[in-house]
Amino acid sequence: MDFRTQVIAAGAASRFAADALLVLVAGDALPSELDDALTPALKEAVRDGDLVLKSGKSLYLHRVVGVKALRVAVVAVGPGDAKAVKSGAAAGMALLKSQGVKHLAVQIVGLATVGASHAEAVVAAVGDATYLYRATKPSAPTAAALQSLSLLAQTNDQAEALSQGLVRGAAIADGVCLARDLADRPGNHCTPTVLATEARRLGRALGLKVEVLDRKAIEKLGMGSFLAVAQGSDEPPRLIVMHYQGAAKKQAPTVLVGKGVTFDSGGISIKPGEGMDEMKFDMGGAASVFGTMRAVAQLKAKVNLIGVVVATENMPSGKAIKPGDVVTSMSGQTIEILNTDAEGRLILCDALTYVQRFKPAAVVDIATLTGACVIALGGVRSGLFSGDDELAAALQAAGDAALDPCWRMPVDEDYDEALKSNFADMANIGGRPAGSITAAMFLKRFTKGQRWAHLDIAGTAWKSGTAKGATGRPVGLLTHYVLARASSTAGK
Ligand code: BES
Ligand code: MN
Ligand code: ZN
Repeated sequence: MDFRTQVIAAGAASRFAADALLVLVAGDALPSELDDALTPALKEAVRDGDLVLKSGKSLYLHRVVGVKALRVAVVAVGPGDAKAVKSGAAAGMALLKSQGVKHLAVQIVGLATVGASHAEAVVAAVGDATYLYRATKPSAPTAAALQSLSLLAQTNDQAEALSQGLVRGAAIADGVCLARDLADRPGNHCTPTVLATEARRLGRALGLKVEVLDRKAIEKLGMGSFLAVAQGSDEPPRLIVMHYQGAAKKQAPTVLVGKGVTFDSGGISIKPGEGMDEMKFDMGGAASVFGTMRAVAQLKAKVNLIGVVVATENMPSGKAIKPGDVVTSMSGQTIEILNTDAEGRLILCDALTYVQRFKPAAVVDIATLTGACVIALGGVRSGLFSGDDELAAALQAAGDAALDPCWRMPVDEDYDEALKSNFADMANIGGRPAGSITAAMFLKRFTKGQRWAHLDIAGTAWKSGTAKGATGRPVGLLTHYVLARASSTAGK
């Protein structure tokens, strides 16, 4: 995120010097707290039918008499909840897009209470709209035009709430930016080695302790399943461990484990060519772990958090694993690899065994794990899998609060049947029915006795088509979850 944020308390919006003023209007009539200078123009616009006060409708006005900002965008946000405010702010940004706005002021009117969640929603939308991918595109602008975002508060109490939301929103937006930057990067610019370098850089910037395990160290741990996937690639694998300590050492950490397949060709069970480039996004889970570490550390949350990234390519070669091969995981359980394209679970299972040494309060893995999850939930909600009702409820609530929602899927033991193998303790696939659930059941076998949840972000981590690019999800969900843990364990 390239812009500064601030809250401006009280004072008329019309007198605030900005390049553009974005007014988000809740309700179906112009509210009384609307700026005096704006009221006549907007009343006329409503009368003439140019402004309709229905969620999503908008109007652009240039040089309104008595208003300092040259440009005014008005967007109706219906009920005015955080979700509507976020889409309204996004619509406003689209209206102002090509105008090189450097200083933007945003005001929300028509609500009894404007709070932290609204401020957070506005920063998220503005952060998304101004994000620029630059890593491999020299022709891209060197920076977004926007330099500052000012939220205009009507009262001092409101200003306080908005400030809190801004701080949190800005940290999440920074985390989302980092996640997008990493995930957007093509496979040849984002290898496991590059991810390790990025982890060290992040560690230096934020004061995290970072450990990077190379192939030798991974062999020593006995991660036969992770190594089996890595053996087909010329790029060496990395196990990256980032520690953030914000609470007493004795407090059990929350552990995040991210799938970091920097390119998933499918291996010997090679994928069809169409759209295969998008498999550079198969490290979206890892990217979200980086982004969350950044947001949480930036906010100095009073919590202990460990981020683990398990990074490799999945490639076909003379050394690659073959369908039918049996490997031994770090847990000692053997796995018959029936499909080399089901590699995510093969690397995550060893990471899930590894993190037990941290005696975590909870473990959450994040992975672009199955195409089946895209079919089930599309790009709206991530899949949430957990046998622990309390943990599932906390993650679901965090997703709702962050406007980064997930949906709980079942993990009944009956689904585990599909993983039976005649030649190993389990097979790595369970057939087409309930594909995202049997993938979760596979991981569940490596989390006995742990408070564990799995997020399948195959549908939510990136967008295809003309808007092709990483979304930075679920950094918002994860950050909210970790912050909620910080406040629930305060003083313990
Ligand atoms: N990375 C893919 C999952 C994926 C596919 C994410 C499409 C997003 C879009 C994963 O490694 C994979 O290939 N899964 C297989 C599993 C199957 C072989 C059981 C899949 O979903 O097809
Ligand atoms: Mn795959
Ligand atoms: Zn994959």
